[in-house]
Amino acid sequence: MVEFQAPKGVPEYYPPRSSAFLSVRDALAYPARHAGYEYIELPVFEDTALFVRGVGESTDVVSKEMYTFTDRGDRSLSLRPEGTAGVMRSIVENRLDKGPLPVKLWYAGPFFRAERPQHGRYRQLQQVGIEAVGGDDPALDAEVIALADEGYRRLGLQKYRLDLTSLGCAQCRPAYRALLTSFLVGLELDEPTRARAHVNPLRVLDDKRTEVIDQLVGAPLMVDHLCEACGEHYNSVRSFLADAGVRWTEAPRLVRGLDYYTRTTFEFTHELLGAQSGIGGGGRYDGLMESVGGGSLSGIGFGLGTDRTLLACEAEGLDVASRPRLDVFVVPIGNLARHVSVGLLAELRAAGVRVDMAYGERGLKGSMKAADKSGAPLVVIIGDDEVAAQVVQVKDMQQGTQQSISRQMVVDEIRRSIVEETQ
Ligand code: HAM
Repeated sequence: MVEFQAPKGVPEYYPPRSSAFLSVRDALAYPARHAGYEYIELPVFEDTALFVRGVGESTDVVSKEMYTFTDRGDRSLSLRPEGTAGVMRSIVENRLDKGPLPVKLWYAGPFFRAERPQHGRYRQLQQVGIEAVGGDDPALDAEVIALADEGYRRLGLQKYRLDLTSLGCAQCRPAYRALLTSFLVGLELDEPTRARAHVNPLRVLDDKRTEVIDQLVGAPLMVDHLCEACGEHYNSVRSFLADAGVRWTEAPRLVRGLDYYTRTTFEFTHELLGAQSGIGGGGRYDGLMESVGGGSLSGIGFGLGTDRTLLACEAEGLDVASRPRLDVFVVPIGNLARHVSVGLLAELRAAGVRVDMAYGERGLKGSMKAADKSGAPLVVIIGDDEVAAQVVQVKDMQQGTQQSISRQMVVDEIRRSIVEETQ
């Protein structure tokens, strides 16, 4: 038993799996970065009241799962459970909303929720997120959803689904909520479910127990009670999504765990992940900025779960970190060769080649074993004879061929062969 262990429910990514984690994170962020979204690095902890007001006091995320502490100045702070409220705060505080709209931002990093840990459900979870703030255009909704979809597709994922619905707005939702509440009152529900129906009736629609599901067959649905403006917005979003080539499933009972959503709301689920199948989700949040003390700009965004997306890739057998970690491994035999190698390493690295060498006195056999384990497709071998002749041996590990190349030319030669390989 080791003395210290990582805290319960906190996943770590160490080699070799950490390179797959990075590939997933980068693939999820790539589409937004290439669509002009700019990076924002948010604080990892914020004023507790920001999350209470932004995310919603009645949500599990805020009421049960926040890591809250008092600092030395007696302020209540919380580890961020999600990113959207912090982005809103930053836009207002730093007056980003006074520049061109929509403000388009992306972020990535850890978030914290004191959930009961299980496979795919962590207390420190990683997300890649984007927010497009200051735009009502339904084409923007379609863009955000398409950028999430593209991230999953870049990784080669296939067994996932996009669930889509509209949650209405401040005009139409209260009337629908009242209608749903009066429907739920007539059902046979246990006490905790009744209480939930009282606080947030929409959440009861998401109940997974058959005895509840059976009673919900005729429940009124938000999509059938949208006001005219919300109905038109939802129709436009769907038609823009079709233009963008994104496929979705209508999910009129979709419920999200955060309170700020309005209108377009979506979730991506993966079919091989079991209970924790949500690999990403998001939606529009038209009143959020006002609720954290800013102007009335609307916005839409997503948070994609990096941990779960990695699990989904593994479940589909995708080799997401297929690129070897090195291009070249250098094997020096003898002290003179070690000096030549250190110089060669510096030149290769300056030329953008990913290279490592055999450190320590391991002899040819041990060093070649290390070279093989490194996964580098090219191995450069330098012994006394090579130093004297000012050449190096370059071995192609896949083909098993070896050739002698002049020390002067080798950096250019290797760089050229790598450029050809990656084209
Ligand atoms: P969320 O649905 O709470 O949304 O989280 C987004 C994703 O983070 C989930 O779909 C899931 O993949 C991952 N995730 C959440 N909790 C856990 C956990 N305990 N363990 C592992 N993965 C988890 C948000 O956070 C919103 N801020 C998204 C958003 C941005 N909406 C608009 N803009």
